[in-house]
Amino acid sequence: MDYEKHALSAAETIFALRERIKELTCLYKIADLASRAELSFAEFMEEVIKIIPRSMQYPSATGCLICIDQVDYSSPNLEKSEEYISAPITVNNLERGFIQVFYQEAAGVSFLPEEEQLLKGVAQQLALVMERKGVEENNAKLQEQLRHADRLATIGLLSSGIAHEINEPLSAILGFGQLLDTEYELPQAAKKDLQKIIAAALHAREVVRKLMLFSRQVPPKMVAVNLNKLIMEGFYFLENRCAKQGVNIVRDLQEDLPEIIADPSQIHQVLVNLSVNAIQAMPKGGTLTIRTRHQDDTIEWQISDTGIGMDKDLQQKIFMPFFTTKDVDQGTGLGLPVVHGIISAHHGSISLESEPGVGTTFKIYLNTNHE
Ligand SMILES: Nc1ncnc2c1ncn2[C@@H]1O[C@H](COP(=O)(O)OP(=O)(O)OP(=O)(O)O)[C@@H](O)[C@H]1O
Ligand SMILES: [Mg+2]
Repeated sequence: MDYEKHALSAAETIFALRERIKELTCLYKIADLASRAELSFAEFMEEVIKIIPRSMQYPSATGCLICIDQVDYSSPNLEKSEEYISAPITVNNLERGFIQVFYQEAAGVSFLPEEEQLLKGVAQQLALVMERKGVEENNAKLQEQLRHADRLATIGLLSSGIAHEINEPLSAILGFGQLLDTEYELPQAAKKDLQKIIAAALHAREVVRKLMLFSRQVPPKMVAVNLNKLIMEGFYFLENRCAKQGVNIVRDLQEDLPEIIADPSQIHQVLVNLSVNAIQAMPKGGTLTIRTRHQDDTIEWQISDTGIGMDKDLQQKIFMPFFTTKDVDQGTGLGLPVVHGIISAHHGSISLESEPGVGTTFKIYLNTNHE
């Protein structure tokens, strides 16, 4: 009798040992996968889904479902059943999903407490991988922003030099041209040509002005202003253009917006540049939405359109000076660089979300803390 008892506990020990080995193998394999930088997150998850069932008592009857940020990863032909264990995946105190393991042929088999424990361990491992991935993505984004800012600063320096050089001869062309026009009785044909010279010089002066704005050669004249009020005033000029093109305007302005310290004419310029782009992106009409929101020390200002949108490749290029997809007489490619220069001079930031065929939203963040 004693012998029998002993034999049973030895069998139990071996079984338990085998289970522990399977569990450790599972954790080890996931850690190993996590260290393989060449795997995308989806590829990593595909492997994890295969590994987890192998660590359970009845691998062939086990199905696994992992849900992360509303995306499901599941073992082939998963059949959910009453008999399952579950563990939440929590990253930085935020529940981002869960893992569930099912016994598909539920009859009489139940999970061990150790298996539940293992699932918690796996969930923690996944959370760590996601946390690391989040940090890596943030770093990459920061690097790209720095590179971008550096490029813009170089171009800004270069273009401000050119702008100064051009400004003087341009003033002479304009000044003498206008003098000629008013002081002398010119033949009709010469007068017509002179008008063209003056119009071209005025256009060039506008380009120079934009360049100087972009390279922050025009220092902002800072005063306390209400952004909503500036938007309402600015729209007075834009309404006509919107109506002509079948663009419907939605103003969603938060009440009691705190004041910001800003240059009103430059903020007006930002509104015009972004709205004109939005209107140009909706040749068949659509909706232009202007939204303001306030939280803590920050004002979020959104300008959205339901226009043609931009793919990722285009989005990378749009803040570069002189980059345009428009015809020569339609765009100089300085609208967004100017917006970027102005927002930087106001210590704010700008970002965008866009999808081809759906539309674009530009988001500007400005600080209300005036210290
Ligand atoms: N709301 C938008 N929807 C789709 N594409 C846009 C939008 N805003 C900007 N773009 C793209 O970004 C490019 C650069 O815009 P930017 O305002 O700098 O120059 P532009 O509009 O071409 O010329 P400018 O503003 O100097 O007259 C545009 O040519 C267009 O391709
Ligand atoms: Mg533009």
